[in-house]
Amino acid sequence: MAKQRDKISVDSYKGVRDFYPEDQFVLRYLFEHMERICELFGYEEYGASILEHAEIYREKTSEEIVNEQMYTFTDRGGREVALRPEMTPTLARMIALRSREIPLPARWYSIPNVFRYERPQKGRLREHWQLNADLIGAAGVEADAEIIAIAHGILRSMGADERNFEIRVSDRRILDAIYDEIGVENGTRAPVTRILDSRGKNKDFKDALSAALHDDSKVSALLLMLERTTSTAYLEELRTQLEHMGVRNMIVDTNITRGFDYYTGMVFEVYDTDESNRRALFGGGRYDNLLAAFGGESIPAVGFGMGDVTARDFLETHNLLPEYSPATELMLCIVERAALPHAMRLAQELRREDVAVAVNLSEKRVGDQIRQADKMKIPFVITVGAQERESGRYTIKNLSSGAEITLPADRIAEHLFSSLG
Ligand code: HAM
Repeated sequence: MAKQRDKISVDSYKGVRDFYPEDQFVLRYLFEHMERICELFGYEEYGASILEHAEIYREKTSEEIVNEQMYTFTDRGGREVALRPEMTPTLARMIALRSREIPLPARWYSIPNVFRYERPQKGRLREHWQLNADLIGAAGVEADAEIIAIAHGILRSMGADERNFEIRVSDRRILDAIYDEIGVENGTRAPVTRILDSRGKNKDFKDALSAALHDDSKVSALLLMLERTTSTAYLEELRTQLEHMGVRNMIVDTNITRGFDYYTGMVFEVYDTDESNRRALFGGGRYDNLLAAFGGESIPAVGFGMGDVTARDFLETHNLLPEYSPATELMLCIVERAALPHAMRLAQELRREDVAVAVNLSEKRVGDQIRQADKMKIPFVITVGAQERESGRYTIKNLSSGAEITLPADRIAEHLFSSLG
C-alpha cells in the first residue's frame, strides 16, 4: 500500500495575508478612497513590476531595509533581483528614464504591494499594499501642502474626524543645520538620522548615538537643540498653506526624522490620536536629490506612502470599518432541476441590464438556498420553479425586510436599482 503523504500546510507564509472576501472588501474600500482622492487632486495612476534591480535600493534607501529587510534572489542570468520594499526608487527610475517627455510637474499615484522581511507584529507585516502619491517637479511649499492635504483628505473621506489623527511635521534642514553647528561629518549624518528615527522604538538609542558620534557632548547638544527647535519660518508657512486648504491638525514635531536617506526637506508622519493605536499611519516627505541619482538632472519631488495594514487598524480603532456587502445583488433559487435552464437564461437577461446575479447550483431545498443567500448577505432572491416558468412573473424577495413584489422579467432590474438606491 502506498505510504500516505503528509498533509500540505494550509497556513499562509509568515507575515503575509490571505484575503477572504470580507478582507478583500475592506482592501477594495481603502483602494477606492485612495484612488478617488488622488484623482480629485489631479493624480494619474501608474504601475510597475514587483521585481526590481536590487541595486537601485543600495545607494539611497535605508540601510535597515537594504541589509535586513529586503527579499532578494539571484536570477538564472546571475542578476540580483529584489521584491520591491518600497515604490519611491522605482518611481524615480521611471521618471528619470523619460524625464524629457513627461510634462512636469507630474502628479502620479500607485497602490503597489511591497515586501519587507520584518518581525510580524501589529501594524507591521511582510507584505502590505501601499498607496504612493508623489508630486515630481515642483519645489515650493504649495507642493508640500498638497501632498499632506491628500493624506488628510483620504482619512476624512473614510469618515475620520481631525481629532482622530494628527499630522506631525518636521524638516530635514533642521537636522542639517544642527549637524553643521555641532560638527557632524557628512558620512555620519545618514546613520545618525536613522538612529534618531528609531527613537520611540529603541530604548538604547542614546547609546547608539554615542557610538555613532564618538562624543557624548555632541549627543547632548544634538538632543537639546532638537528639543529647543519648536518650529521654523518654513514650517509656519506650510501651516498657513494647510489652513487655507482646510487642514488644521498639523503639529511641528522635531522627533519626526524618517528612516530613509533620500529625504532633503519637509518630512511628515500621520499618527492616530487614540492611545491604543500608536503607530504612524503613513509618512513621506521631500526628496529633491533622488532623481539625480539615476544620472539625469536633479528634479525636486515630494510624496508619501500609506499602508493598508495601518489604515485598517485606524478604521477599526475609530469604528469606521465599512459593513461587508457582496457585489452580488440577486440570487436565483431553483425549485427543481427542470427550472435550471430557464433560470440560467433569465440570469443572462438580467446581467445585460447590469444586475449582478448568481444562480444557486447547490441542488438543495429552496429554503436552504435562501438561507445560503442570506448568509452571504445577498440582498434579494427570486425562486424559480414551474409556476414562474409558466407565468413569466417572478417574486422578488428582499431578505432584510422580508418584503415581496411580483413582476415580469423586464421590470426586475428597475425594481432592484430603485430599492438598492
Ligand atoms: P514608509 O514610512 O517606509 O515610507 O512606509 C509608508 C507607510 O507604509 C507606513 O507609514 C505604513 O503605513 C506602511 N508600512 C511600511 N512598512 C510596513 C510594514 N512592514 N507592514 C505594514 N505597513 C507598512 C516609504 O516607504 C516611502 N517610500 C514613502 C514615500 C513615498 N516617500 C515619498 N514618497
